Amino acid sequence: MKALILSGGKGTRLRPLTYTGAKQLVPVANKPILWYGLEAIAAAGIEEIGIIISPETGPEIQAKTGNGERFGVKITYILQEQPLGLAHAVKVAQPFLGDSPFVMYLGDNLIQDSLGQFLQHFQQKSLDALILLRQVSNPSAFGVATVDEQGHVLALVEKPQAPPSNLALVGLYFFAASIHAAIAAIQPSARGELEITDAIQTLLNQGKTVEALELQGWWLDTGKKDDLLEANRIILDSLLRQDKQGQIDETSKIIGRVAIAPSAQIINSTLRGPVIIGENCRIENSFIGPYSSIADEAIIQDADLEHSVILPGAQILGVQQRIVDSVIGQRARLSLAPGQPRALRFLVGDDSQIELV
Ligand code: G1P
Repeated sequence: MKALILSGGKGTRLRPLTYTGAKQLVPVANKPILWYGLEAIAAAGIEEIGIIISPETGPEIQAKTGNGERFGVKITYILQEQPLGLAHAVKVAQPFLGDSPFVMYLGDNLIQDSLGQFLQHFQQKSLDALILLRQVSNPSAFGVATVDEQGHVLALVEKPQAPPSNLALVGLYFFAASIHAAIAAIQPSARGELEITDAIQTLLNQGKTVEALELQGWWLDTGKKDDLLEANRIILDSLLRQDKQGQIDETSKIIGRVAIAPSAQIINSTLRGPVIIGENCRIENSFIGPYSSIADEAIIQDADLEHSVILPGAQILGVQQRIVDSVIGQRARLSLAPGQPRALRFLVGDDSQIELV
């Protein structure tokens, strides 16, 4: 059994963060989204993992993630020159996959359930494909399945305008080698991509065994800002372990579940968990409220924030109005002069959003 993680694409829905970095490396609870999938695959005992990368963000993903040693797996990077669809990515990966069955994982998806149970189902029943489904309120944004009462998949359609059900395809699939012939038989969709949904439909048309299981735990597709904040909230809520390191002065108060990296400094501040603070951060005269992730090298001074994700090297200085529901990019700087500000002065990147509410 091998694994294929798709980590290409342009991440247009997460701009401006994705102008300078891969969407799969955006941190959730201070860990790149991609690594959650890698760890889940490693935990299922799969050791050979191919990661599909794009020319734009591939080098960054490779540099950050490495050869797999830290996850106890062997990673092969596979370049997809253009984002021509999920099935196209499988085609590009064919030399790596060979005739092996494989699990395919979309690198911006976060899934609570462990993979083991699904893998077992797929292997015991010698299926051609196992897909996972989840009821959603906006099926038009996803691949959608029609399923009979026994869980047999009847039909699949990608992002339909009139969805036949509310069962969305989750970004986790299990395939036998028969998927390659199905992919060879499909044509690009209206959006110009080779859709994996169409390839699975082809398997169905060929009378192959395709089954679906419904996902029980949470599933997050972290493509947009609010999804990212929601992923951050859920991960901090469910996985964060108390780990109070760093230098914390006597005037600071640490309340609830908080993880502070060894080189961080907390000065005259209150942290109310769940909160995670990265390496070399300085938090001074500030309040950091629940569901906040502060990445390495960030500086928060005379500020007040909660339910926010702060990326590496960002600085928030003197902003005492509470910052909420915010994502602040790498090295961004927000500062407010003392006293009543008389003017607002900005240097804001393309596609940024500032809301003074
Ligand atoms: C892709 C698939 C879609 C699936 C979704 C899950 O969509 O094409 O069928 O439901 O991932 O995240 P995309 O994110 O490429 O728009």
